[in-house]
Amino acid sequence: MIKNGLGKALLFGLAGLAAMNHMDKQRESYGGVSEVTGSALAALLAELHSIKSMAWVAHWNASGPDFYGTHLMFQRIYEGMTVLIDDLGERYVAYTKQPVNFAQFVQPAQSFPAGSQDAAKVLLAKIQGAQALSDSARMSLSGATGVSVAGLDDYLMALNNTLDGFSYLLIRYIGTAQ
Ligand SMILES: [Fe+2]
Repeated sequence: MIKNGLGKALLFGLAGLAAMNHMDKQRESYGGVSEVTGSALAALLAELHSIKSMAWVAHWNASGPDFYGTHLMFQRIYEGMTVLIDDLGERYVAYTKQPVNFAQFVQPAQSFPAGSQDAAKVLLAKIQGAQALSDSARMSLSGATGVSVAGLDDYLMALNNTLDGFSYLLIRYIGTAQ
């Protein structure tokens, strides 16, 4: 039984320390990935954002004999990107323990063709580039520690599988529209 103020303060202090220790342990469980991994994840995040913007514009600009199918294909890509970007942004902060740098996330202005065929070719190349970034992030994880590093590895592998699905659609479209 705590009889005096000092004793109560000590008790609350200990409870606070225990809570902080618990939070530290939670953060540690993410391992804290290396700067190399962090840079690859930041570059990947920016690339996915760029792909999303381009696919969205391509969706609006869709043209050609199969207008509606083309319009929907680009929609499927930009909508899929939103989910990937959100999941990756959250993981970036959790694993690197750094905030996302807005200026780095939004890439400098770049040109993008208005024609659906050319747009699909640019998107395909960019998606393949994003997969290479994801692979390099995964490879850089080998030295990292922490129980959740395996979770990041799984996430990046799943991300590449989703990107494979978009590549497949674009390759079929480019092939049939030629
Ligand atoms: Fe739309």
